[in-house]
Amino acid sequence: MKIKTSVFVKSSANNEQCPKPDRPEYAFIGRSNVGKSSLINALTERRDLAKTSSKPGKTQVINHFLINDSWYLVDLPGYGYAKVSQADRKIWGEMINNYLFQRENLICTFVLIDSRIEPQKVDLEFMEKLGSNGVPFALIFTKTDKLTATQLQNHLSDYKKKLLETWDELPLFFVTSSVSKQGRLDVLKQIDEWNQL
Ligand code: GTP
Ligand code: MG
Repeated sequence: MKIKTSVFVKSSANNEQCPKPDRPEYAFIGRSNVGKSSLINALTERRDLAKTSSKPGKTQVINHFLINDSWYLVDLPGYGYAKVSQADRKIWGEMINNYLFQRENLICTFVLIDSRIEPQKVDLEFMEKLGSNGVPFALIFTKTDKLTATQLQNHLSDYKKKLLETWDELPLFFVTSSVSKQGRLDVLKQIDEWNQL
């Protein structure tokens, strides 16, 4: 699929403020700094469409981007950022949960995982929460440009083993880098297939 247009539509602090749920939508979630906003820029080939930062906690609201005038990409705040206060964490948590559990046009939630590190409890628990609430998700491993091919293969096979301890089958997953653009076309192809349904 070719991305011809990508437009920032709006930032929303709750579901009511989100655009009308009248087009397919795909959201990016994961720990702070894992590369959600960068991946949106890589997919759309726009340098600064979604705001990124080397400091975690950059994205703080629900951001909608309209692609090819027909579907949405959604950038969400990260979870698991230690420096966020207990009160803010509760507000963000509720905002994200309400969005993920109630957004009726959300076709798939992409859970981003840093391909460099071992499986994290917070990510595995997040997936279980999605699963138990019936939210369809796929995994996207990020920042593969920071690993050698062998390191990447080892990390991926460790991750798959870990997932199979709790899941009967592996979720759909993609292996990506916003720097090398690895996996970009795979993700777009999958979205295109879902858009045709
Ligand atoms: P929050 O909005 O804070 O939750 O973070 P985020 O998940 O949106 O991460 P963001 O895209 O802002 O990227 C965080 C940092 O990681 C930035 O310094 C990016 O340049 C860097 N980064 C993101 N993706 C990649 C990647 O594929 N490769 C490399 N080398 N760096 C990346
Ligand atoms: Mg972000």
